[in-house]
Amino acid sequence: MSRFYPLDFRLMAMSQFQILALLCQTAASAINSALNQFLAQQMVSSQAVSREVFEAQVVALVEQMQTTTVANVQYIDQLVSLVTFNSGIMSALNTNYYLIYNPLSSIYYVERGNYAVGNYMISNSSNPNNTYCNCQLMSNCAFQAGYYSYAIRPLNAQLSPYLPSPPPKLVVPGILVGCLPHDSMLLSTLECFYNRSCLSLIGVSQAIIPLNAAAASSFRVNTTVNTLFEQLFVETWQNSSNFTSYYNACHLEACSYTYTQPGNLLYAMTMLLSLIGGLTTVLGILVPLLVKFICGLLIKCRGNAVLTIENDPAGR
Ligand SMILES: *[C@@H]1O[C@H](CO)[C@@H](O)[C@H](O)[C@H]1NC(C)=O
Ligand SMILES: *[C@@H]1O[C@H](CO)[C@@H](O)[C@H](O)[C@H]1NC(C)=O
Ligand SMILES: *[C@@H]1O[C@H](CO)[C@@H](O)[C@H](O)[C@H]1NC(C)=O
Ligand SMILES: *[C@@H]1O[C@H](CO)[C@@H](O)[C@H](O)[C@H]1NC(C)=O
Ligand SMILES: *[C@@H]1O[C@H](CO)[C@@H](O)[C@H](O)[C@H]1NC(C)=O
Ligand SMILES: *[C@@H]1O[C@H](CO)[C@@H](O)[C@H](O)[C@H]1NC(C)=O
Repeated sequence: MSRFYPLDFRLMAMSQFQILALLCQTAASAINSALNQFLAQQMVSSQAVSREVFEAQVVALVEQMQTTTVANVQYIDQLVSLVTFNSGIMSALNTNYYLIYNPLSSIYYVERGNYAVGNYMISNSSNPNNTYCNCQLMSNCAFQAGYYSYAIRPLNAQLSPYLPSPPPKLVVPGILVGCLPHDSMLLSTLECFYNRSCLSLIGVSQAIIPLNAAAASSFRVNTTVNTLFEQLFVETWQNSSNFTSYYNACHLEACSYTYTQPGNLLYAMTMLLSLIGGLTTVLGILVPLLVKFICGLLIKCRGNAVLTIENDPAGR
């Protein structure tokens, strides 16, 4: 493959699609394992919680699970990318650095960017002069992929040495090439794969059905692979919880509730009046009985006293 020009689509395409497949597999397996772990968790509370609290808790837990999953995958990807970049690992495609052997001195040395390799023109409309990105300084240098009829850059374009000249035979929309397949794939979009004529242009068989741009999707045709990957290629996350099921699983032994009503003048008056009415009735029945009883008691006491006097053995 390295016989192609560094900006040629055919140079990097195979590696880029391997990367894309790997990103998809990584996202899928990360989500699967996160879901398994999540579903193995138990929700513990000292008291049964209300429906609102339960639902809010579930939503928060699901959200946390999503955020952590996304962050973990991104973290690993960025770590690997950073280690690759900072170790100065040479791409076998000769797109960032390449090894040169000097037969006169029998010395190998690493070429870290000349006009043809390791430097990528940055298209910048505010600065039409050569602005370029070097793979030694940045890992995400990239340029539009195309089909070139030549493999080695002719060093004739003095005014813009980083712009390919002559221009490519054709440009592949959305696909970028750069220092490493990983970084340039993340910067690319999949717009070519929505388009039959674009697929034919890059030699994809007619048997392959293009992606459907009209399908209801939260991702646009021109969404970068990086954005897709940041969302783990997930269109929507759905969550559901079952409060009845949760409540039944608790096996509550007792249930009680207190009901507090705020003070109310009318209520207080009614209570007071009914209390007075009730008291009148109750006292109306109780008081005559009580009086009768006390009178009876008094009469009985007096009778006893008289009896005691009469029975005095001393005759007093
Ligand atoms: C879970 O579902 C509820 C209601 O269907 C929704 O409001 C909430 O945003 C969802 N949570 C997440 C993290 O998707
Ligand atoms: C671009 O290059 C020309 C000629 O070298 C120079 O005159 C001009 O100032 C440059 N423009 C910018 C924006 O650097
Ligand atoms: C474009 O060039 C201008 C002037 O050199 C610079 O300030 C700006 O950061 C560049 N923009 C990008 C996206 O590289
Ligand atoms: C499909 O791709 C061809 C070739 O790249 C391009 O000319 C055309 O504008 C594209 N069509 C759409 C709808 O993007
Ligand atoms: C993507 O396409 C939409 C229209 O289809 C456009 O509004 C938007 O600016 C484009 N985004 C990028 C990053 O090109
Ligand atoms: C919740 O679970 C119970 C059984 O535990 C089931 O009868 C009920 O249909 C479920 N409700 C929903 C909305 O799934």
